[in-house]
Amino acid sequence: MSDSVFLAGDENWWRQAVVYQVYPRSFKDSNGDGLGDIKGITSKVDYIAELGVDAIWLSPFYPSALADGGYDVADYRDVDPKLGSLADFDEMIKAYHSKGIRVFVDVVPNHSSDLHVWFQEALASEPGSAARDRYIFRDGKGENGELAPNDWPSHFGPTAWTRTTNPDGTPGQWYLHLFAPEQPDFNWDNQEVIDDFKKTMRFWSDRGVDGFRIDVAHALKKDMSEPYPYIENYDVKHIPLDGSHHLFDRDDVMEIYRGWREIFNSYDPPRVAVAEAWVPAARRPRYASPETLGQAFNFDLLAAPWSARKFKKSIEFNLDLSEKSGSSSTWVLSNHDVIRHATRYGLPKKTDYEKWVMTDGTSPELDRELGLSRARAATMLVLALPGSTYMYQGEELGLFEVADLPGQVLQDPIWLRDGKTRKGRDGCRVPLPWEKGGSSFGFGTGSAHLPQPAWFAGYSVEFEEAQEDSTLKLYRAALKLRKELLTDENLEFVDSKRKVVHFVRPNGWHNITNFGKKPIALPAGSVQLTSAPLVDGKLPGNATAWITE
Ligand code: NOJ
Repeated sequence: MSDSVFLAGDENWWRQAVVYQVYPRSFKDSNGDGLGDIKGITSKVDYIAELGVDAIWLSPFYPSALADGGYDVADYRDVDPKLGSLADFDEMIKAYHSKGIRVFVDVVPNHSSDLHVWFQEALASEPGSAARDRYIFRDGKGENGELAPNDWPSHFGPTAWTRTTNPDGTPGQWYLHLFAPEQPDFNWDNQEVIDDFKKTMRFWSDRGVDGFRIDVAHALKKDMSEPYPYIENYDVKHIPLDGSHHLFDRDDVMEIYRGWREIFNSYDPPRVAVAEAWVPAARRPRYASPETLGQAFNFDLLAAPWSARKFKKSIEFNLDLSEKSGSSSTWVLSNHDVIRHATRYGLPKKTDYEKWVMTDGTSPELDRELGLSRARAATMLVLALPGSTYMYQGEELGLFEVADLPGQVLQDPIWLRDGKTRKGRDGCRVPLPWEKGGSSFGFGTGSAHLPQPAWFAGYSVEFEEAQEDSTLKLYRAALKLRKELLTDENLEFVDSKRKVVHFVRPNGWHNITNFGKKPIALPAGSVQLTSAPLVDGKLPGNATAWITE
């Protein structure tokens, strides 16, 4: 491989980077089979470059039976043939690097696919064998082992245990899967597992990958000793601060990450990583330390309602926290697991989003205009904050959740596993609209793997390219300006009205976000960009302005 595939440069590039999440199967289909693919991602390099982000992060593109959208990985060091080949991947990375755009890949270390060669080997091997020790197999309870070892739930409902069938057809042991049955959990006390993931980290780093997003980074290490504790659910609020939970955020998970850090630091520039760790905020710095993964997702704003007080509190708290860990903060408003933020902000406070999706998005009523204004304002606000921003494909078009997907097209395991009581996450994973028309709005030449609604036409790239005030144009302008205005990681809040968040960066770059309804007067200075047009020189409600002194 030629050296040009590697991107050199400042080793702190990630501290204030803007990272664009690509959900490969729904980004761009290059061969008309309805699934987005690697060549599709390569074909959009100019679009991403024009958008102005620093890096892309690819959700899993590895061989997978898609029991959980690719988070069931059958081979960690290959590309799913449905999405392309390793050669296509190399081409893709070269294309992005040639524009100075870095590439993150997603690593899923808590569990593999049940089709992974190791799991198949484990099923064919005896209880107590070395092959079974790579996963978490246990005998069942009850007279004939017919009861699950314990009553732990799965994230996707209902149980975290599935019974195996022995090669001779008799019922066998049970295995643990905190997610779908097709996602057996690894045993991270097993040396082969430890070594194999190090190999994976080197494999992608050698191919020029700049960073890794680590899936469920707080799981991995487990205390499987009996008696098993009762665990009602996996809500973060039940995770204690002392690392004593049997399944999550155990102290010794850091041993794994210290091992990976040695590998990351053996590259120039060091490879970087960001942890998806749903842990109490006070424990986040452990994942974000320079000795471990270096950065951790902060999902606080993604979970926060549209409130100046909550945003301000969360910003203060997280800036302080990231300073303590020696990292920079991360800001996230949307990703492939949650309802799109233009929709969240257009629904009444305290709406239960899962229930709302179950009504096909009819009740309560969505106020699209309000949702989009707030989404645009929120995006500008986070882009003005110190630290890095992770944005999700389609948010630059102001896409809303597709809430009316019918049951028969849903792919998320949550739908079937939870007895069709929750539709799951497909509504934010509908393939992107690139054009105003065509069989799949330019996503591919055939139909898309999830149906796209008619209103996508008015949110397509082609449509928004032609509108001066489109969300796409706003993102481009904000990202360009951010590059020019970016300064060190300091910020000071400026006294403001209760419903306003006003802060200034050291070079006099002011962000003013009006969370209220009434227009507010802006301070003196030069208005660089606003998320909505000024009204008689004032900033309207649900809008953000950037001003320089
Ligand atoms: C978190 C990922 O973001 C989500 O999509 C996935 O279902 C789970 N981890 C399990 O891998």
